[in-house]
Amino acid sequence: MKLTIIGTGYVGLVTGTCFAEVGHHVICVDKDAAKVKLLKAGGMPIYEPGLEELVKKNVRAGRLRFTTSTKDGVEKSDIIFIAVPTPPQDDGSVDLSFIETVAREIAGSMTRYKIIVDKSTVPVKTGDKVAETIKRYCKSKVEFDVVSNPEFLREGFAVGDFIKPDRVVIGMHSKRPEQAMRDVYAPFEAPIICTDINSAELIKHAANSFLALKISYINAVSVICEASGANVIEVANGMGMDARIGRRFLDAGLGFGGSCFPKDLSAFIKISEQLGYEFSLLKEVQKINTGQMERFIKKISDTLWVLKDKKLGVLGLAFKQNTDDVRLSPAIELCQQLQKMGAQLRVHDPRAMEKARPFLPHATFVKDMDAVAEGCDALVVATEWPEFKKLDLERARKGLTHPIMFDGRNLFDPEEMERLGFIYKSIGR
Ligand code: UDX
Repeated sequence: MKLTIIGTGYVGLVTGTCFAEVGHHVICVDKDAAKVKLLKAGGMPIYEPGLEELVKKNVRAGRLRFTTSTKDGVEKSDIIFIAVPTPPQDDGSVDLSFIETVAREIAGSMTRYKIIVDKSTVPVKTGDKVAETIKRYCKSKVEFDVVSNPEFLREGFAVGDFIKPDRVVIGMHSKRPEQAMRDVYAPFEAPIICTDINSAELIKHAANSFLALKISYINAVSVICEASGANVIEVANGMGMDARIGRRFLDAGLGFGGSCFPKDLSAFIKISEQLGYEFSLLKEVQKINTGQMERFIKKISDTLWVLKDKKLGVLGLAFKQNTDDVRLSPAIELCQQLQKMGAQLRVHDPRAMEKARPFLPHATFVKDMDAVAEGCDALVVATEWPEFKKLDLERARKGLTHPIMFDGRNLFDPEEMERLGFIYKSIGR
């Protein structure tokens, strides 16, 4: 099938590449000429495991190409996917101006029936607005259908999540685009849910908010574990074995960050408010998330007392493992707060150092994770990179002026750390 994807961010680039991988002919459009130039030259604007190889393979096979021209993309394809950013505004609502601009551009280039699919995360009822906009700006008055097809992929696991999704959600107001949309996804052998546009849009916000709620729930439980001498990992394991609950997203830590959960939560609260419902449960989810960071910083300052001129080694800057993304990263926020309190930082991340540099201009970036602890008063783990489990603990202990570790992601075993001579403080244990 001939498909166009507008926007080559995490969602757009992964979507386009994976569609090409299963045999579709894909045009990826981005207005950022530098990005398109980079992609055409074989470069990658983001780090995502497995993606680079797939991009190269499909470009070589002639199934994937990049352009800055929306007109080119719209003319040559039957189905146009919108995957542009929907950033948060100060009041928590979503800025839909990129979606609106793209809808107008598509309308201006349509000369025959098209299916316009929204993949970006948007508030409920956006599909209706997109349809109205296209109708208004399409001079040739050709027929079209708007479809909502939210994306559930996780950064760091995006290719796997796309190729083997738990489900594909397709929201439509008419039956006409259904078969074509089913054909697009037929090679993926995933369960397909066909529903109305509003429900499809809501599924995305409701699902992400529920996952954030799950994380805040276990983080709240971790506070009770600490106060009572229980172990949050044991509690999560025991809870997670109940198939109705499940073990995933029950890892207590520094809280959730990234470009999705914080934004989607605020947006869902805002949409609910606009629809006349105060979603106080979700406001509490946000509060618990902020509290988790505050408690961790208190743990550090209670132990080290005055942080001014203390040297801290920090492992992890990305908002989670397997990504170079530092947007709304709890690790960056932690570093900034520690610096505000006067601490000097030596920091390391396996992938995110370049993207983190502008946010931490005064930190020392250390290439070798085993060298981070050298000369520091304590070591802090801020991101759940599995690599950190292979840290040379003996060398770290010797390098520290005091053998103290604050583990914000529960990567190490408290008994083992004690045996190795560490004063080890983690979350909820
Ligand atoms: C999320 C959703 O999972 C995905 O379906 C949606 O499409 C986009 O938003 P992503 O932001 O890539 O994906 O990351 P995710 O793996 O969900 O982690 C989000 C944050 O939660 C990270 O900061 C992570 O460290 C934190 N987290 C996750 C926890 O603190 N504990 C957990 O148990 C799981």
